[in-house]
Amino acid sequence: MADQSFADGVDPWPPRVAITAAGATDVQADVLAVPVAFGEPPDPALVALGEQVAGFVASGEHRGRLHDTLLVPSPGGMATRRILLYGLGAERDMDGQRLRFAHQEMVLAARTFGHRRIAVLRAKPLREEDLGAVVEGCVAGGWYRRRRSTGDRPPPLDELGLVGFERAGSDAVDLARQLGAATARAREWQNTPANEMGPQRLVEIAADIAGRLGLELEVLGPDELAAGRYDLLLGVGAGSERPPRLIRLQHRGGRPGGDNLALVGKGITFDSGGLSLKTADGMLRMRGDMAGAAAVLAAIEVIAARRLPVDVMAVVAASDNMPGAGAQRPGDVWTSASGRTVEVLSTDAEGRLVLADAITCAIRSGATHVVDLATLTSAAVTALGHAATLAVANDDDLWTLLATAAEAAGERVWRMPAYPEYRDLLRSESADLRNSHYGEAGAIAAGMFIGEFVEGRPWVHLDIAASHWNEHVALRDVPRGPLGTGARLCYRVAERLAAPG
Ligand code: BES
Ligand code: MN
Ligand code: ZN
Repeated sequence: MADQSFADGVDPWPPRVAITAAGATDVQADVLAVPVAFGEPPDPALVALGEQVAGFVASGEHRGRLHDTLLVPSPGGMATRRILLYGLGAERDMDGQRLRFAHQEMVLAARTFGHRRIAVLRAKPLREEDLGAVVEGCVAGGWYRRRRSTGDRPPPLDELGLVGFERAGSDAVDLARQLGAATARAREWQNTPANEMGPQRLVEIAADIAGRLGLELEVLGPDELAAGRYDLLLGVGAGSERPPRLIRLQHRGGRPGGDNLALVGKGITFDSGGLSLKTADGMLRMRGDMAGAAAVLAAIEVIAARRLPVDVMAVVAASDNMPGAGAQRPGDVWTSASGRTVEVLSTDAEGRLVLADAITCAIRSGATHVVDLATLTSAAVTALGHAATLAVANDDDLWTLLATAAEAAGERVWRMPAYPEYRDLLRSESADLRNSHYGEAGAIAAGMFIGEFVEGRPWVHLDIAASHWNEHVALRDVPRGPLGTGARLCYRVAERLAAPG
């Protein structure tokens, strides 16, 4: 396993891609990738590559539209045989998220042409400040989706050359490589079919991380969950032959008595809906319902590897949601680990149930701040589409910190309001709370349900139901497939909480 690469779908850690710095003519690579902005005159760095290459842009054969690529021969005298023109779209539309996606897709395109040593030229619209985004995107693009197909596969990304960037050898590049690899690992875990990825596989992933980086690992199985009265998680897991698990990894980097950030991930390894069964189409991508878990696991690995000076725990509520013989029924009332009673009106609103108990576990273990990540509601898809993650928060300071973290991570997050009127949406006739909504403000209500369990801690809820995966061919600005959403963001949140002052 250890000598396999992203192309084989195995997650290498530390990431194996070698990063080098060089000049445009002497860079040793299979291909030199050259960005093109839409609607702008060609950058001097592009013009310097000669009339023949620049001509493809001048003539309009490559217009710089986002994700468009054109492979052309290099002029004589260059070490690379090929130049890959790749579009970054209009400059005014560019931001960190689009920049990373663009480089992810560019690397995949180059690999599809058979290239494994890829160099990127800093030309407009790329700026020196974009270096980290370029590296993160390129390394995330080292992942390949169809590793289970037995046909031809693109080669792995072995080397990334950085041409014209001044800080190509800096520690920021090394961090960007780790964050790109974390994104790739989260993508791989999201994509793993549910027959391979059950609660126990999430335990194995966590144990592997804990073993390599010396983190505390706590795994609660059915007996410990019963002893801890985690009946919401047990209720969701009851319909599956694969029992649920509550997994907690603790990184210790801060001073005793300092902050302890809980990153809580929804780890539903398959969401059939339970007895409130989904349609066949509705179930299609439900192997990805553990994307929140993938993000927090990928993130804590980087947090621990970089020894961030703050305590951080990753808590994963790992469970199937199946309609097997023992399954909970719509209308069941369960008591959460925190002691609140919940009426389960829809067994398909399982995410908020398992997250409620996972947050109680985090609080019992000393969490001072909570960020939860979950593929929680189709209402989030309706509200924001695939362009952004939907947030609900109870604390302006933690929200502000998270918003700046999102900027640094190159992930879009949009905060929804939590008006008191929405509390009505949680009211039950037979228990403290109901788990499904009244058909309005669905993503907010789901978030506010989770917020009922944070016991006054500063908290941000991130609904990644739309932003974790795009499968629409027509939505071409967002790459297709699993996106590893939240991994970089979680790291950047921890980094900010660690920062002095
Ligand atoms: N995992 C789903 C949400 C989801 C939908 C994720 C689409 C990714 C893509 C979640 O468990 C769910 O089923 N939510 C229901 C809640 C409803 C029953 C209150 C939904 O949003 O339809
Ligand atoms: Mn569901
Ligand atoms: Zn779900």
